[in-house]
Amino acid sequence: MHRLDLTKMPRHVAIIMDGNGRWAKKKLRRRVFGHEEGAISAREIIRSCHKFGIPFLTLYAFSKENWQRPAMEVEAIWHLLKRFLISELPELIEKEVRLIHIGDADGIPPDVAEELRRVTDRTSGFSSLIVNLALNYGGRQEIVRAAAKLAEDAGNGKCLPGDITAESFARYLFTAHAPDPDLLIRTGGEQRVSNFLLWQIAYAEIYVTELYWPEFREPQLIEALLDYQSRERRFGKTGEQI
Ligand code: FPP
Repeated sequence: MHRLDLTKMPRHVAIIMDGNGRWAKKKLRRRVFGHEEGAISAREIIRSCHKFGIPFLTLYAFSKENWQRPAMEVEAIWHLLKRFLISELPELIEKEVRLIHIGDADGIPPDVAEELRRVTDRTSGFSSLIVNLALNYGGRQEIVRAAAKLAEDAGNGKCLPGDITAESFARYLFTAHAPDPDLLIRTGGEQRVSNFLLWQIAYAEIYVTELYWPEFREPQLIEALLDYQSRERRFGKTGEQI
């Protein structure tokens, strides 16, 4: 039995799912096999977050930078994502999990975009767990897009520049519906943020594990949550003030 304190769970867990390729290489398999096994981890982690009552989960599935990979791999990942959306819909509905896309809709292959729309529409009334799926996502691009929308509203007199606050700005981000992540997990050992949720992770606790994403399942999530629960979150205050 794990020793998770259910009163100290993060409200929002965000994950950089890295290491599929290295995991496959270790097994002497093609990179795509690693992505396929990674999709199983994604399914399991969604199930676990639902089970633990974590209300928000954000998964970094395809970044703006990922387009630079060999065309065959890019194609295989989008095909896998499409299959994932199709295969997971019944369970999302059964568990009343809502899936929301964060990232640019423009540029996503049309057949994937269609499935994405189907899943986000069919689950839009649910809230037992909200899964933000970051596809064609970049943190800087998100901030620039928000700034442009805000400038447009200011130009139209919908808001005054002097009234802009961090809170009002955040309402222009893809994650307007969610609290900021409390815990950012990165698998695969790299100590980088890689253009993920740049605005939102201002106070997130960061947990990096050497394990590759296909190896990250419920027991490993519990480890990350226990580590999170052992930390003192000060938000700029002193330890005595907490
Ligand atoms: C990271 O490993 C993998 C990606 C960026 C590809 C997309 C992720 C998946 C397909 C996982 C499944 C998720 C869902 C939602 C189905 P990498 O290829 O960067 O690994 P490497 O660093 O070892 O090369």
